[in-house]
Amino acid sequence: MKLLTAIIALLPLFGLAAGQPSRYNHQGGSPKRHDSLFGSKRRHMPSQERAVVYVNQDGVEIPPPVGQQPPASSGGQAPPAAAPPPNAAVDAATAASPANVQAAAPATSQIQGASGGGWPQPGTGGNGITYSPYTSSGGCKTQDQVSDDIGDFAASYGTIRLYGVDCDQVEFVSKALGKNYNNKLLLGIFNLKDIAGQVQTMAQGLKGNWSRVDTVSVGNELVNNGGASVGQVVAALKEAKEALKSAGYTGNVVIVDTFNAVIANPQICDVSSYCAVNMHPFFDPNTSADQAGAFMTTQLARIKSVLKDKSQRIVVTETGWPWKGSSNGRAVPGVSQQEAALTAIKGAFASSPTNVFLFTAFNDLWKKSEKSTFYAEQFWGMGQRNSRAG
Ligand SMILES: *[C@@H]1O[C@H](CO)[C@@H](O)[C@H](O)[C@H]1NC(C)=O
Ligand SMILES: *[C@@H]1O[C@H](CO)[C@@H](O)[C@H](O)[C@H]1NC(C)=O
Repeated sequence: MKLLTAIIALLPLFGLAAGQPSRYNHQGGSPKRHDSLFGSKRRHMPSQERAVVYVNQDGVEIPPPVGQQPPASSGGQAPPAAAPPPNAAVDAATAASPANVQAAAPATSQIQGASGGGWPQPGTGGNGITYSPYTSSGGCKTQDQVSDDIGDFAASYGTIRLYGVDCDQVEFVSKALGKNYNNKLLLGIFNLKDIAGQVQTMAQGLKGNWSRVDTVSVGNELVNNGGASVGQVVAALKEAKEALKSAGYTGNVVIVDTFNAVIANPQICDVSSYCAVNMHPFFDPNTSADQAGAFMTTQLARIKSVLKDKSQRIVVTETGWPWKGSSNGRAVPGVSQQEAALTAIKGAFASSPTNVFLFTAFNDLWKKSEKSTFYAEQFWGMGQRNSRAG
């Protein structure tokens, strides 16, 4: 059983093709390595003895998770037990209209006003962005390096998507945001193995304060790449929800897979708080950069048509265009092509900019260049940007 679990966890690392209509085994922001292989020795857990106030995603104080209650010396005084909102309410609140897909003009500013009025708070609106905290040689970035990276882009985007909990990334990114930025987070449970452990790492990284967390994702393209069955990701979502609930989080929890996998298996979305898909026009050989937005509009409509709840919110958790690599038919990497594609994508989401996460903050030099992904894997950094932190 242990071995089987290990195999399931390892499969996605090898990018198994799933025979989807448009070839799609892009690794996205997914670390090709993960906790069980590299991360654990680097992780320093914050002390659990510290007095920690647990706060749910709405900023309401909650009791500490089971197993993390303070020692008996605290006199057993329970913090006010605020009832967390039922998932249904959260779902309803977020089930806004699906991505509105009119080809409007691209948003001129990514930063939108904070709800409180006054000057916009950095990081409160606009498109989401993906970020991975690895050095070009594949090591974990330090707190200082992560803070430097976050300072580079946080003010220009809304929610920041992380893929896993390795390299102390939840803690480092939370600290980097601190009081300077109001960005929300989309956190990732990357492995279906040890879900409870990953949730615990999240809670510790957040110091029990979930108010910044917009969503927690489970897996990344596992059904598409053959790493897990639909039944397995659905079961993992349930397990994650329970673990998150006992850690104080009852907000959005979603499975992330490719749009092709979701169209073939709409159940992935039906059980998620909203429908979360990675969607890369570059992997369609018939789509040129300037058509990237139109491609997405078409695919969003296809997704909508298979969903049980036709009004379910659809969020593209990863999309972008490489600026270097070999061509995939009409999909040609390049500097001007990347610019054209990003403009087209932002245009397609102009009326709902928070429903798309742009991939990615920096070039992923830690990734391997491979023919199957058009030798472009390292070069999806927007504006050809390398992290100054290395
Ligand atoms: C929780 O984090 C938010 C920032 O996301 C902060 O404004 C708030 O003060 C924190 N609450 C506690 C109790 O630390
Ligand atoms: C691309 O377009 C051609 C011509 O319209 C069509 O025959 C082909 O099936 C398309 N390929 C894909 C992958 O959509």
